[in-house]
Amino acid sequence: MLSFPQIQILLSIRLDENADLFGVSRYAVVTGANKGIGFETVRQLATAGVTVVLTARNQKRGVEAVNRLQQSGLSNVLFHQLDVLDAQSIHSLAQFIQTRFQRLHILVNNAGATGVEVDEDGLRAKNIDPEIWLAGKAVDMIQDVMKTTYDAAKECIQTNYYGAKNVTEGLLPLLQRSTSGARVVNVTSLRGELSRVPDERRRKELGDIDTLTEDKIDRILQQFLQDVQREAIETNGWQKMLPAYSISKVTLNAYTRLFARKHPDMCVNCVHPGYVDTDLNWHTGPLTVEEGARGSVMLALLPDGGPTGCYFDRTNVACF
Ligand SMILES: NC(=O)c1ccc[n+]([C@@H]2O[C@H](COP(=O)([O-])OP(=O)(O)OC[C@H]3O[C@@H](n4cnc5c(N)ncnc54)[C@H](OP(=O)(O)O)[C@@H]3O)[C@@H](O)[C@H]2O)c1
Repeated sequence: MLSFPQIQILLSIRLDENADLFGVSRYAVVTGANKGIGFETVRQLATAGVTVVLTARNQKRGVEAVNRLQQSGLSNVLFHQLDVLDAQSIHSLAQFIQTRFQRLHILVNNAGATGVEVDEDGLRAKNIDPEIWLAGKAVDMIQDVMKTTYDAAKECIQTNYYGAKNVTEGLLPLLQRSTSGARVVNVTSLRGELSRVPDERRRKELGDIDTLTEDKIDRILQQFLQDVQREAIETNGWQKMLPAYSISKVTLNAYTRLFARKHPDMCVNCVHPGYVDTDLNWHTGPLTVEEGARGSVMLALLPDGGPTGCYFDRTNVACF
């Protein structure tokens, strides 16, 4: 295990130097990359010399995104359809990579959903300051314009937790063929930090990596969805702010740690991109997508011996 100063030294290596560290062609997949942070992650990785498969659930939006990058001179970006909710779509992507490249060096699980139904005009009319969002003080101001319905909560958990997990497992044989040890980056959120989990027993269970299992995570997520159905989110100790999104990211972080332990030859980390101006947060974030993609790109291009099983707040190691 590397010490904290060693990690910091490794991370201080500049990205343009990283581009040549492997000395061979590198292949990457980024999910949910037709727009937002995912699109920018593809752009930055391709600029660093990586051949990137930009994936999107919608063929037209994905092809248009690839065209934009190719027209800007990045010929090393190609498209393949991927809906992270669809096992057949994951299988088809794996077959495509197997045929074209036979291996995969980098996977960025970026696709995400919020788990709420929103009255966007009503939200905009409130004109809430980003500082208030970040401080977690917006929660009571938005209850009338943001609803956690069962369908939205389920889709969120299926996308953010099971989607990332199923894509990772589906591409695992290809990642294992990366001679230098694959890099897996799970895009999470500060909403997934353990300190924000109100229920103490649940917080301990999700934070105790020695006793945590994927079955336990499944049971926690089932319990959450039952509580959404019973309208018992607050009474049963789930987060009040974006409850489905929050637990989906807490569990994604936990999965990142479990997966990293199981595959010590890889660098497997999760990253909060910062509060970024994208469709996902109805353009309430102050950071640009260029700033938001930096953490994902840094972790995708980690040199050999880099950190694994860690959580990053943008480009800094942080506490789960
Ligand atoms: N923006 C922030 O401040 C912020 C903060 C913390 C974490 N994050 C995380 O950053 C990641 C990227 O979000 P963003 O802010 O860039 O939002 P975004 O611009 O809304 O992008 C989200 C992407 O996910 C895709 N997606 C959703 N469901 C999918 C599915 N089933 N299969 C494949 N793709 C799917 C969307 O595709 P469509 O275009 O087809 O809908 C879109 O390309 C997410 O994981 C998010 O949780 C963002």
